[in-house]
Amino acid sequence: MADNTKEIKEQETKAVVPAEDKPAKALSLDDMSPRQIVAELDKYVIGQDKAKRTIAVALRNRTRRKRLPESIKDEVYPKNIIMIGPTGVGKTEIARRIARLSNAPFIKVEATKYTEVGYVGRDVESMVRDLMGSAVSMVRRELAAQNEKMVRERVEERLLDVLIPNVSSTANTDAQFDNARISAREQIRVQLRAGLLDNTEVEIPNQLIRPKVGIELMGGSMDDIQNAMNSLGSIFQNAAQGPRNKKRKVTIKRARELFTEEETERSVDQEKATEIAKERTEQMGIIFIDEIDKIAGKNSSSSSPDVSREGVQRDILPIVEGTKVTTKWGVIDTSHILFIAAGAFHVSKPSDLIPELQGRFPLRVELDALSADDFYRILKEPENAITLQYRELLRTEGVEVVFTDDALHRVSEIAYEVNSSTENIGARRLYTIMETLLDELSFNASEMSGQTVEITPDYVNERLSNVVKDQDLSRYIL
Ligand SMILES: Nc1ncnc2c1ncn2[C@@H]1O[C@H](COP(=O)(O)OP(=O)(O)OP(=O)(O)O)[C@@H](O)[C@H]1O
Ligand SMILES: [Mg+2]
Repeated sequence: MADNTKEIKEQETKAVVPAEDKPAKALSLDDMSPRQIVAELDKYVIGQDKAKRTIAVALRNRTRRKRLPESIKDEVYPKNIIMIGPTGVGKTEIARRIARLSNAPFIKVEATKYTEVGYVGRDVESMVRDLMGSAVSMVRRELAAQNEKMVRERVEERLLDVLIPNVSSTANTDAQFDNARISAREQIRVQLRAGLLDNTEVEIPNQLIRPKVGIELMGGSMDDIQNAMNSLGSIFQNAAQGPRNKKRKVTIKRARELFTEEETERSVDQEKATEIAKERTEQMGIIFIDEIDKIAGKNSSSSSPDVSREGVQRDILPIVEGTKVTTKWGVIDTSHILFIAAGAFHVSKPSDLIPELQGRFPLRVELDALSADDFYRILKEPENAITLQYRELLRTEGVEVVFTDDALHRVSEIAYEVNSSTENIGARRLYTIMETLLDELSFNASEMSGQTVEITPDYVNERLSNVVKDQDLSRYIL
């Protein structure tokens, strides 16, 4: 079972919200009351009301702070939060949802990823650089969106220039000839807009398009990525200044994409983007430190003998207390960044953290273990509920799957039972159970187009009872 859980957890880690994933019109945190924030979280996370409330207040307090006069503003520090709760009850899920609803720069990091300064690995300051990195790409995207109309117009003109090479040149005195050309250009514009020319091949300069400055929060160091981008940037500049006589053949459709990318890049004022991003990072930034319990406790049983857990805590401390971190985009003051930490604290306790760090996380919220009834709601209610996911997936095969309420109650009971009799992995159990339940249907669906399958309690019992009865078997399968 342990292996199974680990695998599931790894998948989740990989799936952590890349910034691009956010809905284009994310609700602005600035405008949301605590009640609205909780309501938004309620759409995805079942129960855990205390945690949602505490976090909503902490988030709102930052908006309130922004409205204070300068003199008081600097004195109001964020109240950092520790979420404590058993595995699989929604700690990380809450963080993931905050990331999506806020326009505040947000990153989620695993405490275990960091090593003490001087050792090989990521130093803790990189979390601030990553936060700023995500803010920069967020702001760039926003600025680019504002320029969308202008970009579209410029792209159209450039496409017309390519289609009618000479028309844009102005040095012509023959008025009649000019008029003819202009009307030709307008006619082609109409065709272009109607998409009639999409497959027409044209030659465009073979210049390098500067890569997007969208920063993915992946494993690699932000600085490495930044260096790579800077050097690419200078190649681009050289290419742009140099002769553009190299051409390549592309369709209008592709040319439009390339030009759009280029004009979007060009339309964003990097200085302005950096300035806004810096302000946002310092005033509204949120760093979610997951698995903080793994760095609590004495050094003895640390995962790697080289790395001291306490050392990592000591390194994190100044960042939480407020320090200046140098980044590619300037120096970031961390005093007002909000930190939310989370951990299961099975083995260690929050009191095993070094006292200074404990003091910096004054708010403690405990998340509750989930009941069978919670499981039922988790299967059914969230906007991304797992039953909806299966229904949509099977729908693509023309198969309608219908879960009866009783069947979902039965699945929840089984999940609860298996959690009590083997290892308690919280709501994650639902995923393994649903997978086993629908295993056969998922396999056969491609040949079942047009059918409706009702998942009844009998169906559930038939597929799962044998496995549930046999503890050894359920340890492996569910
Ligand atoms: N209260 C809940 N409401 C809805 N879904 C939940 C809830 N709790 C857990 N889940 C689901 O279970 C999965 C695991 O939850 P999550 O990642 O939040 O666990 P966790 O509390 O961070 O556990 P761990 O301490 O092991 O990291 C998530 O994918 C989430 O969809
Ligand atoms: Mg987690």
